[in-house]
Formats: sequence, structure tokens, C-alpha cells
Amino acid sequence: MPEKVLTNEQISRMVDTSDSWIFDRTGIKSRRIASDDETASGMAEIAARQAIEAAACNPEDIDLIIVATGTPDRVYPSTGCLLQQRLGIKNCVAFDIQAACSGSIFALSIADQYIKSGAAKKVLVVGSEICSRIVDWADRSTCILFGDGAGAVLLGASSETGILSTHIHSDGEYEDLLYCPNPQAASGTNRQGAGYIAMRGNEVFKVAVNTLGRIVDETLDANSMDKSDIDWLVPHQANIRIIVATAKKLKMSMDHVVVTLETQGNTSSASVLLAFNEAVRDGRIQRGQVVLLEAFGAGFTWGSALIKY
Ligand code: UT7
Repeated sequence: MPEKVLTNEQISRMVDTSDSWIFDRTGIKSRRIASDDETASGMAEIAARQAIEAAACNPEDIDLIIVATGTPDRVYPSTGCLLQQRLGIKNCVAFDIQAACSGSIFALSIADQYIKSGAAKKVLVVGSEICSRIVDWADRSTCILFGDGAGAVLLGASSETGILSTHIHSDGEYEDLLYCPNPQAASGTNRQGAGYIAMRGNEVFKVAVNTLGRIVDETLDANSMDKSDIDWLVPHQANIRIIVATAKKLKMSMDHVVVTLETQGNTSSASVLLAFNEAVRDGRIQRGQVVLLEAFGAGFTWGSALIKY
């Protein structure tokens, strides 16, 4: 996480809002904001090095790097390639995946397919976002929500633990409800305006709640599991009310739901990996437990990964 903290109080001096409105409607109290010299690849490097250390892995053994980001340093090379350069790994493949807030779940799904097929043995998956650079700080309906950060995991083949299944989906019908224009690549009238996040929050909220409810059923069915088999829910951190609705669907107490958004806000593709990291490192998630990761984002995109840790 970047060091700089931006509180609701501070935002309420920038736009017409209040700490109580933001906290009551979202569960967010503060978020981290990158400094001018921080980049998605720089934050990805810090998270990646922590994951490599935790896995006691020789970086040279990594044969695939997947970075999920909607805020790449450059249009190209990919943030994956920039991360590869930063880590000094010569012999691997690196690329980005763009699935907005579902990016890390999509990346986990791709990593899982590569490992299960035998095409890769060690895969580094990173979600890294500088949302603060694509937020319109004059738009109170979006600027209160987002934060910056990066999370990473290192995956390796194992018959004992790991990803049980992943489920990813998209539906391009909903483009207009949540998007971020790219003025540089647009033509004609589309070229007008800045490249800021635009969202019809209330409509997104409703689709998110319904869709995440369905992905829970899909994931449990695919594994012939019952709700009670899930030890932890690690959801995308968009809004506490969406998270509570998903926990309710699982009949799960909030004590078994990892929530980081109070101090991190919505870090898009980084949020699930940041939350997973926090709960593993503070000892909540234990070896052998079953963990459901899920996310929903622009596209719409949505997905889940069921893990035996
Ligand atoms: O991560 C990717 C997916 N994204 C999401 O899942 C986000 C989903 N959406 C949400 O989290 C919520 O819709 C928001 C937190 C964005 C908004 O909460 P809401 O309860 O859906 O509020 P709303 O948009 O229906 O707006 C209610 C009222 C409006 O005023 P009127 O028309 O009732 O007079 C808004 O203008 O709240 C007003 N409002 C605000 N008031 C104070 C909107 N933003 C603010 C604000 N401070 N920051």
C-alpha cells in the first residue's frame, strides 16, 4: 500500500459529502493514495517480492507473470513486462489481463489453467492499481470509493492444496454503467473529455449483488460442496453492503469474511489479493481451510476462485 492516507474527512473538504455518508453507504473510512513517483509496476514489484519471499521461491523458477491492472504505467509494454524487468527474470512470459475489478480472479483462473495443463510450474499473479489517477476528484459519486495498492500470490503445482476451481464470466452489455474512457485512443466526439471513471453506482450495485449471489451457487455446485464447507469469504472490496449480501447468501457470519475496505477503499483488481494477504499474514486463514474469493467489476466481469489453502 502507498503510505499516504486520504480520509473521508479530507474528501469532504474537496466535494459535497461527509464522513458519515461515505461510511454508512460504503463502509469506507480512508484509502491509500500513491505519490507522484509511484507506479502500478513499482507497487507490483513490492507485492511480488513479498510473495516470492513468502513462497521461498527462486525468482528464476517463475515461468509466467500475469498482472491484472486497469491503470498500467504504459499502454505498452505491459505492466507484466515492466515487472519482469524490475524482478530481473529473463526466461519467463509476462502479460497483463484487463478485467477491471475482477482482474485478479481472471488472472488466477488463467494461472490455474496453465498449471493444471502443465504449461507452467510457477506463476506469479499480481493485481496492481493506481485508481487515484483515473478518478475525477470533483465527482463525489466515485471519488469517495477508490484507493491504490497492489497484491500478489505465487502459484505452484501441488496435489495437496491450491485452487479447486475458478469460474469467470463477462457480459459486455453493461458497458455504459461503469467505464473509464481512453481519450488518447478514441476518435471524433469520443475524444472529448478526460479519462475518468464514470459509474451509475446504484444500478451497478444491484447487478453486483445478484450476480455474486449466483457465482456462490455456481462455485459450490461445481465442487459438490455445501455453504458450511467454506471457512472464509474473501470478497472484492467495493461496498460493505454488497459484501454483507454475499455473506448472507452463504449464511456466513461476518467473522469469517475478510474486510479491508474500511482503510483501503476499492483498489479494483488488487483488492482480493490484498485482503487474502492480510488474512493469511495475520493468521486468520489457516492451512487446509477452504476459501472463496470473488469479484465483480466493469464489463461487467465477475468470477470466483475456490481455494484449499
Ligand atoms: O468495484 C466495481 C463495482 N462497483 C461497485 O460495486 C459500486 C457499486 N455501487 C455502490 O457502491 C453505491 O451505489 C454507491 C456507494 C456508489 C452509492 O450509494 P447509493 O446508496 O447507491 O447512492 P445513490 O447513487 O442511489 O445516491 C443516493 C443519493 C443521491 O442523492 P438524491 O438523488 O437522493 O438527492 C446522490 O446524489 O446520494 C447522493 N450522493 C451523495 N451524497 C453525499 C451520491 N454520492 C454522494 C456522496 N456524498 N459522496
